Amino acid sequence: MVENIIVTDARTGKKYEIPKEIVMPDNLTIIDSRTEKEYAIPITNGTIKAMDLRQIKVSDDDFGMMTYDPAFMNTASCKSKITFIDGDKGILRYRGIPIEQLAEKSSYLEVAYLVINGELPTKSQLDEWTFHITHHTMLHENTKKFMEGFVPDAHPMGMLVSTIGALSTFYPDSRDIFDAESRKLQTYRLIGKVPTIAAYCYRHRLGLPYVYPDNDLSYPGNFLSMMYKMTELKYKPNPVLEHALDILFILHADHEQNCSANVMRSTGSSHADPFVSMAGAAAALYGPLHGGANEEVLRMLKEIGSKDKVPEFIKRVKGGEVKLMGFGHRIYKNYDPRAKIIKETADRVFEVTGRSSLLDIALELEGVALEDEYFIKRKLYPNVDFYSGIIYQAMGFPTDAFTVLFAIARTAGWIAQWQEMLLDPEQKIARPRQVYLGSDERDYVPMEKR
Ligand code: CMC
Repeated sequence: MVENIIVTDARTGKKYEIPKEIVMPDNLTIIDSRTEKEYAIPITNGTIKAMDLRQIKVSDDDFGMMTYDPAFMNTASCKSKITFIDGDKGILRYRGIPIEQLAEKSSYLEVAYLVINGELPTKSQLDEWTFHITHHTMLHENTKKFMEGFVPDAHPMGMLVSTIGALSTFYPDSRDIFDAESRKLQTYRLIGKVPTIAAYCYRHRLGLPYVYPDNDLSYPGNFLSMMYKMTELKYKPNPVLEHALDILFILHADHEQNCSANVMRSTGSSHADPFVSMAGAAAALYGPLHGGANEEVLRMLKEIGSKDKVPEFIKRVKGGEVKLMGFGHRIYKNYDPRAKIIKETADRVFEVTGRSSLLDIALELEGVALEDEYFIKRKLYPNVDFYSGIIYQAMGFPTDAFTVLFAIARTAGWIAQWQEMLLDPEQKIARPRQVYLGSDERDYVPMEKR
């Protein structure tokens, strides 16, 4: 938030409102003990620019000071207006709107519009947006042939990542990244086609014929149809499950500078097209420490098997033998607000599908962990992935498709992050520095002398 102060021009008596940082800049004073020189580094938005440290040198031929921050623990890589998280308070907002309100009142397509365009759409804007996305759900027929090449038990995330990347070859116009109309078209294509690819991955695994999109259905309803339609002429999604899936998509739409968003921005910063950039982002999501955790949570709950085995499992976690998957977060040091909403949604889903026995194990795990000193001290709380897998399982999704569901929803966030990066005049190709600690110059040794 920019803080303004009122300045009076003594010559004219006129008053002006000027950003405080221009009139009275805050500085960080650094004294270099090597040279005893003092530097005033301007502070903006609670940060200092890493490049401002470069002036700190011991001699003229010194490269200058850098920061060392593996895994970006304390480095802001961009300015963003998309998603706000207060990890200590457990707050998540898209474009300023609390996630709780969006989950209760909005739809995924409306949230996707908000996340990408910055404002909630008017009725006609939403109709147009929905129309275009709905009319870009079909895949080029060659995609089916391409998918046939995958072994029958190929992991759906591997298939999804490759097929999103392959879309780049169908749409060479997507390289026109600085054309707003082209970006809009690729946005429709990506949000429209990712669920179709996801459903094809599932059908491929089962050897079932692919189901074409049904334009009469909602975004989540059409996805359920492409997944589960068999011989019936028209698939009718269960409205409770359709709505629950829409909520899950809303909860996963964006999460500021997480691992996959960072990959999307980083790949896109070389001006690669959005399809290959998103393939990279989806690959990052696949990992068990990120979106792949939902799959791991379910495996963990199955491995634990029953409530009475929970204390024994917690002991193994505390001994460093295993991780409590679905717990902990780089940013949240409080209950993940998304996990709270998922827990509430689960009850409605279970009324339709029947209660999952895994829920009892999950509730017991949560109860024990939240009382335990190990988790309290480290501020480890359930994250979004802790309960999502249990709902997905109850809805009939196979375990290894869970991360694919995450990817469908996160498409909106990845596009928003990519576009913001492209339009930000301060951004350039992402290229971190390193601290080189390897050998000094040395000569090549011929094979016979090694
Ligand atoms: N189980 C047991 N101990 C944990 C866990 C966990 N799930 N998470 C963190 N810790 C411990 C960790 O061992 C460390 O302890 P110590 O200080 O004694 O070394 C301390 O808590 C701090 O953890 P960290 O690994 O330094 O934290 P991080 O910010 O680097 O990692 C995380 C965050 C999400 C990768 C990690 O909490 C984790 O691996 N959780 C399990 C996987 C998971 O659920 N991932 C989904 C994240 S939310 C959705 C998403 O990102 O897509």
